[in-house]
Amino acid sequence: MSVIISPSLLSANFLNLERDIETINKSKADWFHLDIMDGIFVPNISFGFPIIKSIKKIAKKPLDVHLMITNPDRYISEFKNSGADILTVHAETCNHLHRTIQNIKAHGMKAGVSINPHTPVNIVENILNDIDLILIMSVNPGFGGQKFIENTYNKIKKLKSINTNNNLIIEIDGGVDDTNAKKLIDSGANALVAGSYIFKSNDIAKTIDNLKNI
Ligand code: DX5
Ligand code: ZN
Repeated sequence: MSVIISPSLLSANFLNLERDIETINKSKADWFHLDIMDGIFVPNISFGFPIIKSIKKIAKKPLDVHLMITNPDRYISEFKNSGADILTVHAETCNHLHRTIQNIKAHGMKAGVSINPHTPVNIVENILNDIDLILIMSVNPGFGGQKFIENTYNKIKKLKSINTNNNLIIEIDGGVDDTNAKKLIDSGANALVAGSYIFKSNDIAKTIDNLKNI
């Protein structure tokens, strides 16, 4: 299976969001990556339910929703009602991660767990068969356009060495571009998020195509 490409709308043009979504609809991208930030877990605030619901109305691909919020359990039903297809929570925000994952799945969504650059991959070791996706942050979460952290390759390899779930999606988020995408895939990643690399390019569809075939 070819690598999944999930363009991060954080770097889209919010005055022309419909245009950018239509471009992604027509492109080879697989998902829409939506970054939800609360200003507490991360030092930035992004967007919430009304925007997600509007995106859902015209998006022709699954919504890959990345929650960078404290206490995400409070909002699982509301993200489902807003149109999330994949819901990813940060391990660092959940005291009872196993329960949170079950709750996401009970709502009919795919369940993902994200980890910050400093968090070891073995935090998910005992729930690997409960989750659909792990999102390894390759920057500190909160902003688009940051520099890729090189240790990410080691984390992917470590995860591969302990993984028992053949269907696990290993998604990488932050600073992904054509200089690191191939090495990430060779290390074991099978899904890539890219924001600024895609939306700041001159030809969004072509940039996605390049990443897909790298
Ligand atoms: C960062 C977000 C990312 C971000 C990626 O906190 O989780 O999804 O939008 O942006 P780039 O690709 O520009 O690093
Ligand atoms: Zn993200």
